[in-house]
Amino acid sequence: MCTDEMTLRRHRAEGGADVERDIGSSAAEAWRSRIVNVWEIMPGMSSARTSSTPANRTLSSAKAAKQDEFYTQYVDIQKEVEAYLEFDLNTFRGKVVYCNCDDPFESNFFKYFAANFNKLGLKKLVTTSYDGSPIAGQGTLFPEYDEGNGKRQRPKALAVVVDHVQDEDGDGAANVTDVELFLKRNKAARRALNADDKYPGGDFRSAECVALLKEADVVVTNPPFSLFREYVAQLVHHEKKFLIIGPKNAVTYKEIFRLIKDTKLWFGTGFANGNAYFSIPEGSGRAFADGVYDESTGLVKFRNLSWFTNLDHGRRHEELPLMTMADNLKFSKHKEIKGKAAYDRYANYDAIEVPFTDAIPSDYGGNMGVPITFLDKYNPEQFEILGRSENEDLYDLKTRVYSTKECQEAYLNLFGKKGTYDMNATPVINGRKVYQRIFIRRRAYGATKATRSED
Ligand SMILES: C[S@@+](CC[C@H](N)C(=O)[O-])C[C@H]1O[C@@H](n2cnc3c(N)ncnc32)[C@H](O)[C@@H]1O
Repeated sequence: MCTDEMTLRRHRAEGGADVERDIGSSAAEAWRSRIVNVWEIMPGMSSARTSSTPANRTLSSAKAAKQDEFYTQYVDIQKEVEAYLEFDLNTFRGKVVYCNCDDPFESNFFKYFAANFNKLGLKKLVTTSYDGSPIAGQGTLFPEYDEGNGKRQRPKALAVVVDHVQDEDGDGAANVTDVELFLKRNKAARRALNADDKYPGGDFRSAECVALLKEADVVVTNPPFSLFREYVAQLVHHEKKFLIIGPKNAVTYKEIFRLIKDTKLWFGTGFANGNAYFSIPEGSGRAFADGVYDESTGLVKFRNLSWFTNLDHGRRHEELPLMTMADNLKFSKHKEIKGKAAYDRYANYDAIEVPFTDAIPSDYGGNMGVPITFLDKYNPEQFEILGRSENEDLYDLKTRVYSTKECQEAYLNLFGKKGTYDMNATPVINGRKVYQRIFIRRRAYGATKATRSED
């Protein structure tokens, strides 16, 4: 298959039909031909990466940036944003949207918001690219950098500000082609970003980017996962609305979980079943585990990614349909529940064990330990989140703390050798640890206070 065909297939898999419609064929061709970004840390990628034995470590790290290049698909951004519009058509109206980990030449976030600027009623779209990106400064949207004697230096990190999209080319429509023309005609709409004492140009933490952040209403992007905690902390510190992609297991970071518990952050709607598809540059020669890369679409599948947001959407207000406790014990499809006399209780938390979200009893008023996947279905009007299992007991939910001696004895009993069975890390049933749990309670049933027993 020739390169053009492959590009086109990838483009179609990215929701190309919509892009084509939005930006017209010649502009679409220009967008298509550009390479994209780098992904700092992809969960689940370690097995897919090349070996990191000492012999080839240098080679591996040199390849790492290239290996980490992934495109967020236009169609995924569109689908997610539309879920918020369905809930409130004015979610973005009159707002300054800031994409702060996005090369405006490459990013589908820029493309989507530029193409839908008027439909969404945006006040301004600000996009900044990062100097550390391997493709920084490669964009071709501003031809003057290649004009003259060719010695003009391209800025590596750029801010592009769009404050209106109108029919610049007189074709009767206001779309991304017009944005391109607008940017060419209005050089003030873009500027180079400089490094400061601490950070390279375009770093979301740099002084210039923080100043832009302060002016923004909603931040929408797919940030580097290696900096996810810091990235979210910055958004929260500046009290911004946001819609970002991140690794699902970030919910176990204590700072992130605290935000979820306090309903200051929740999952978005997209990436059904945790499967997310990203495109990679052609010919990247990367090795992937079976079933991860689909050559026919050029897409790589990653599990356990999610949208994280503090924008409201309809799904989080849907009631989770549940059976009563008696019905669960009688009819549950889970062998762990069906036929039991009662739900298990933890030895170290005042709560019952509910190993599956769909086995939460509808009529139980006490505390329940549920899997972390409950968060996919979490409706804050139906349930209150009390905390999660962890060594530190940040939420004051433990009723028992095991001594080191008890943990050592438990290990000896279970495995017949010396060791430490850390029973303080998770809930415990009959001397066995169960998986990490989130503790919840039905909203309607009122509080049941946990009591700590010091033994
Ligand atoms: C996962 S990629 C996503 C790129 C783009 N947002 C998208 O979804 O297609 C993360 C991007 O963040 C950029 N980046 C890495 N560190 C950054 C930082 N400290 N500040 C701003 N951007 C950064 C990378 O260059 C990369 O382009």
